[in-house]
Amino acid sequence: MVRAESPRVASDPDVDQLIAQMTLAEKLGHLNQMGGGISATDNPGAKAARMSELAEQIRAGAIGTFIGAHGAEHTNALQRIAVEESRLKIPVAFANDVIHGYRTIFPIPLAEAATWSPEWIEKACHVAAIEARAAGTHWTYAPMIDVCRDPRWGRIAETAGEDAFLGAEIAAARVRGFQGDDPSKADRMIACAKHYVAYGGAEGGRDYNTVDISLSTLHDVHLPTFKAAVDAGVGSMMSAFNEIGGVPASGNEYTLRTVLRERWGFDGVVISDWASVRELVPHGFAVDEAEAAAIGIRCGVDIDMASGIYQKFLAAAVERGELPMRLIDESVRRTLILRKKLGLFANPYTDVSRETALQGAAEHRALARDVARRSMVLLKNESGVLPLARKAQRIALIGPLVESKRDVLGTWAGVGREEEAIDVLQGLKSVAGADVTIDRALGCEVLAALPNGIDEAKRVAQNADVVLLALGEMEMMSGEGHSRASVELPQPQLDLANAIFDLKKPTAVILLTGRPLSIPTLAERAGAIVLAWHPGSEAGHAIADVLFGDFNPGGKLPATFPRSTGQVPLYYNHKNTGRPPSEGNRFTSKYIDIPWTPLYPFGFGLSYTSFSISDATVSPLEARADGVIRVSVKVTNTGKRDGDEVVQVYYQDPAATMTRPVRQLCAFRRVSVAAGRSETVSFEIPVTRFGFHDNSGQFRVEPGEIRLGVGGDSATELGLRVQLVKS
Ligand code: BGC
Repeated sequence: MVRAESPRVASDPDVDQLIAQMTLAEKLGHLNQMGGGISATDNPGAKAARMSELAEQIRAGAIGTFIGAHGAEHTNALQRIAVEESRLKIPVAFANDVIHGYRTIFPIPLAEAATWSPEWIEKACHVAAIEARAAGTHWTYAPMIDVCRDPRWGRIAETAGEDAFLGAEIAAARVRGFQGDDPSKADRMIACAKHYVAYGGAEGGRDYNTVDISLSTLHDVHLPTFKAAVDAGVGSMMSAFNEIGGVPASGNEYTLRTVLRERWGFDGVVISDWASVRELVPHGFAVDEAEAAAIGIRCGVDIDMASGIYQKFLAAAVERGELPMRLIDESVRRTLILRKKLGLFANPYTDVSRETALQGAAEHRALARDVARRSMVLLKNESGVLPLARKAQRIALIGPLVESKRDVLGTWAGVGREEEAIDVLQGLKSVAGADVTIDRALGCEVLAALPNGIDEAKRVAQNADVVLLALGEMEMMSGEGHSRASVELPQPQLDLANAIFDLKKPTAVILLTGRPLSIPTLAERAGAIVLAWHPGSEAGHAIADVLFGDFNPGGKLPATFPRSTGQVPLYYNHKNTGRPPSEGNRFTSKYIDIPWTPLYPFGFGLSYTSFSISDATVSPLEARADGVIRVSVKVTNTGKRDGDEVVQVYYQDPAATMTRPVRQLCAFRRVSVAAGRSETVSFEIPVTRFGFHDNSGQFRVEPGEIRLGVGGDSATELGLRVQLVKS
């Protein structure tokens, strides 16, 4: 039986007074989240009927928070019923999935992570908060901060990639961007770190699948992003769908009570994912929905999203004396305090005039364009194909995604509008100027051949000076419930690409994707590859800025690109094994049909200029567990254009009481360096960063040697040494 205690729930006299007046039914209503949307396609009669159904539930105090209600007017109408017509006049809160923008859509989160620029990500989240809050959304189900090492998982698009350290820096930035220092302000909202926890560890990359990992991996890989969100003051957490080693995350006493509440002191709201507490039944963890509800509330899942089982079953459990009222009160207190932090008791309504003024504002679009181009990764650039020359020329723009507006927005695109997105063709036309002629051909569909498609594409390419091939994935090939068994480029696109490469024209690929893809043929045969991801509302402009060199790309991969799906899971911070792969020795850990190495490693990305990283130093050479070391390097732009380099520090603990990864990121900074100039970059690294958790969940920093290296990707040499000594 799960313990029913929490070490701290912040007390608030006003809230306590309200709780004292609430009936049990009202309390459970406030722990119940339901849909509050009205479908735009419904006729007036259906809309009125839906509205009166919602009104009745609010009046009865049967719903405390809503998902799916949009627009200042609609949410104000629902709020008015809550604060004027319900018995205790308690305001309701409106939540939505504002993941990478609300109306102005930013690049998908995986792409934003490729900027390696937490400060820009923070600004992007702030814009999302400005637009969403102005439209009546108080609470976002973001940041999504699951760590994922398997690109088959469709939700990798929503993550910051495969690394816990990069992910933690970004998690904190996103929380700051959404919440600011006061979520009651008209341009801020409450964030929700999700999905707690280890949802990204799904076996086979299949969504919702089983997660079976060691306690050490749970602590060192999957928990750090959530700890960073808690330290940044996140107001809420969402408990995940998956199980972890036999115990579902939404009924997991260890992660929800021991770690989150007791060790980390988190006193914000925990909400279930969509019916994830009810799903304890199909998991085989609860005998029926009543038991599932009791487990959920005892674990400290305060709000039940969408299933209604708290409301249906918990009253009887309290009345039978099986569930202490104190436990219900704790959760009610947290949800009321969330609404207090949002300022809703003092100011329940949204100012309608802000809504129209702020949606898609010009400065929001400008930031979206900036973030999108910062997120692009130059994977290959040979024989000077890119940047495109600014001269009179004929460009063939070929591929199934050249005119898609929906796909460039990516998964979970808020209330972003297709018609407001700039597609690749449009963007190129507007940036290229009048001297450039652009001919277009589809060549194929994303997943199917087109009759005469390749012939037509070849004809267009033959007449061109340069060919641009826009290939990749549709929006609906990644995201929730969109896992792929294969991460290869679909065959019809591969056939198209090969036919174009055979023409031996200068050819650059624009890769639009929601996940790392396996693209060995493109890597071998294309002249250049720009990884554009799904870049959001300003896609076409940002892509054109990069192709024409108006912006020098400097993004780096936040997740490994494999050579083949068969290598997956493939990630840079793997263990060494007792038989590390070695050329020419059959009895080492590798494959007989493909190399063991990635196609492009984590942290990789080129530029139109070149950099050298030199003169690395570390001091002191001996440090204690409570100490700090300083690593410094010189970064020189050895090329002819100004550009950005992401300086990355990796370390390895070569011998410990538990095997350690071959390397791990421990610091990074994206710096701009003018052509021909050098900059010194220094990092202060606390020694605790070299610690790890054992399989009882205890953290240790062990004495011994630490190897360090600084470079422009994760394949860098680890030539520096520091000796950790006993405190
Ligand atoms: C997803 C969550 C999301 C929720 C509400 C679930 O299916 O897993 O990420 O916040 O739906 O839309």
